[in-house]
Amino acid sequence: MNNNSPIKAFLVVLVTALVCSSLVSAAVVILRPIQLNNQMVERSRNIIKLTGLVQQGVTPSDEEMLEIYREMDVRILDIDQAMFNDELDPLSFNQRKAVNNPELGVDIPTDQDLAALGRRSRYAPIYMVLKDDGRLDRLILPVHGTGMWSTIYGYIALESDLNTIAAATFYEQNETPGLGDQIMRPEWQAQWVGRRIYDEVGDLRFAVNHGKVEPGSSTWLYEVDALTGATVTGDAVTAMIRYWFGPDGYRDFLDALNRQESGER
Ligand SMILES: Cc1cc2nc3c(=O)[nH]c(=O)nc-3n(C[C@H](O)[C@H](O)[C@H](O)COP(=O)(O)O)c2cc1C
Repeated sequence: MNNNSPIKAFLVVLVTALVCSSLVSAAVVILRPIQLNNQMVERSRNIIKLTGLVQQGVTPSDEEMLEIYREMDVRILDIDQAMFNDELDPLSFNQRKAVNNPELGVDIPTDQDLAALGRRSRYAPIYMVLKDDGRLDRLILPVHGTGMWSTIYGYIALESDLNTIAAATFYEQNETPGLGDQIMRPEWQAQWVGRRIYDEVGDLRFAVNHGKVEPGSSTWLYEVDALTGATVTGDAVTAMIRYWFGPDGYRDFLDALNRQESGER
């Protein structure tokens, strides 16, 4: 075929386009599992230490983290319906991006907006650590709220009674160093362990105290010590917990799961 032929030029362009698009498609298919693994590693970093499956002070390798992550039952919760959503992919669902999506996010009525969020995702990824017999060992729930200067992100792990705090972490915030950012201190977060969210009649009692919680006092079971010089951030954390564990947050789901777990026993 003549080199100047328009048909030959067209064929060259067509073959080049086909080869390039096949390469791009192959790359997407090959890289997808790697990308998903990276997403899982990133998420698991903050969650894994709340599972109770890692020794304190030990940093697991990426492979170990992925293994623990895969052993958990990770679901997407429809918060208002208090039931799981099986259509959204728990591995790729991004709760932060969902907030401003018209279908995935929802405005929070001002009178319910304890955590001063304005909007939230309708859905949350939740993480269930299961015992060998398949029953719930721990439930890890994401929380976030507005602090003095920034949005504070954390996870709360509950024991199987769905009330006692097994572990808590605040892993992202931009409060003032030395003041509000004390919420990141491991010693302060360690105080949360064993505290309860609700009292025996189901009232939401958890709070960050404005001083020191005296052992044996009536608030001992439900409160942690204040952060020195940072009452504003401490109050924001209290408000965040009250929002997420209240009727506009996880409360209905926790009640339903409690009924389901005790029914199975
Ligand atoms: C520049 C500046 C930054 C501050 N940052 C924080 C903060 O991140 N979190 C906080 O709770 N209080 C912060 N405060 C202090 C609050 O204004 C407030 O005085 C404090 O929360 C009261 O806590 P206290 O009752 O323990 O003293 C800051 C104050 C100043 C002047």
